[in-house]
Amino acid sequence: MAILVVGGAGYIGSHAARALQRAGYEAIIYDSLVNGHRRLTEGFELIEGDIADQGKLRSALKRVDGVMHFAAHAYVGESVQNPRKYFQNNVEAALGLLNETIDAGIRRFVFSSTCAVYGDPAKVPITEDNPRQPVNPYGTSKLFCEFALEAYDRAYGLRSARLRYFNAAGADDSGEIGELHNPETHLIPLALAATGDGSELNIFGTDYPTPDGTCIRDYIHVNDLADAHVRALQHLEKGGESVALNLGTGRGDSVLDVIKAAEAATGRTVKRKLGPRRPGDPPVLVADAARAQKVLGWRATRLLPEIVSSAWKWMKTVQRSS
Ligand code: UFG
Repeated sequence: MAILVVGGAGYIGSHAARALQRAGYEAIIYDSLVNGHRRLTEGFELIEGDIADQGKLRSALKRVDGVMHFAAHAYVGESVQNPRKYFQNNVEAALGLLNETIDAGIRRFVFSSTCAVYGDPAKVPITEDNPRQPVNPYGTSKLFCEFALEAYDRAYGLRSARLRYFNAAGADDSGEIGELHNPETHLIPLALAATGDGSELNIFGTDYPTPDGTCIRDYIHVNDLADAHVRALQHLEKGGESVALNLGTGRGDSVLDVIKAAEAATGRTVKRKLGPRRPGDPPVLVADAARAQKVLGWRATRLLPEIVSSAWKWMKTVQRSS
């Protein structure tokens, strides 16, 4: 069984491609390499192409039985500054991919969605029934694709899994792949970097209504996410219905908890400063992942210390090889 991993040279896509391969699938990576990295595709067939290139997509889709779609811009702040870029890629080009998928006769689609579709949730832990009211163009772009997938299911029988990630972090144990964002904006790599490269971690807000005053997030290991993708695909293969699922651990950790975990993993101090809140950050985002467990038999297996240690191991590999 062959799967087109669109955006497979990126952080989460490269882990999903490996999870597919380990589960016995042929994973073909489709990526423009604009934000993706060739080094993350080693051991895979790579089709170099943009998702807006419908001709190239068409010929790639002829060779596969299902699609996993990861190719999206994913910086919340940038999406507020430059919504056009987000709607062009995450909505317009993604719709082109959906149309080509349908036209190729493929009826299985696993979609990278996000907890950003919930916006500022009315209730935490967040269940899938929480109202979807994104508060930034990034979340809006992902929600549009969710709506499109729901409509395409009803109209054309395209069955999909819309997987709503919480905070993806960590790296594969192989040391071959991990997070390589440019610029890096995520807390865990920045906290690790601030133990040794002279940088200082800016803590965005210490006056949130949380026990230590900093934001709480649900950090999930990227391999747990990747595993859920394989299971979601298998669910669709077995004739399972389209689903939307939260992927998180169900546990919340504050920014200060992450700093402590980074200090434990590295044996060094995280240099830090206290800053104002970052606009658009909800105080607490934690998943209720019961539905993923029920539908896929999946649950996250790694918590913060292991996530941070694996990110640290990867960061040292990158430093050695650059
Ligand atoms: N944080 C800091 N300092 C930093 C970076 C982050 O204090 O330098 C804090 C943030 O305020 C937040 C937490 O650390 O409370 C996590 O921030 P990240 O930037 O690592 O992750 P986000 O929660 O902002 O973003 C994640 C995904 C997005 C997704 C979003 C949904 O990376 O793709 O959740 O809210 F859209």
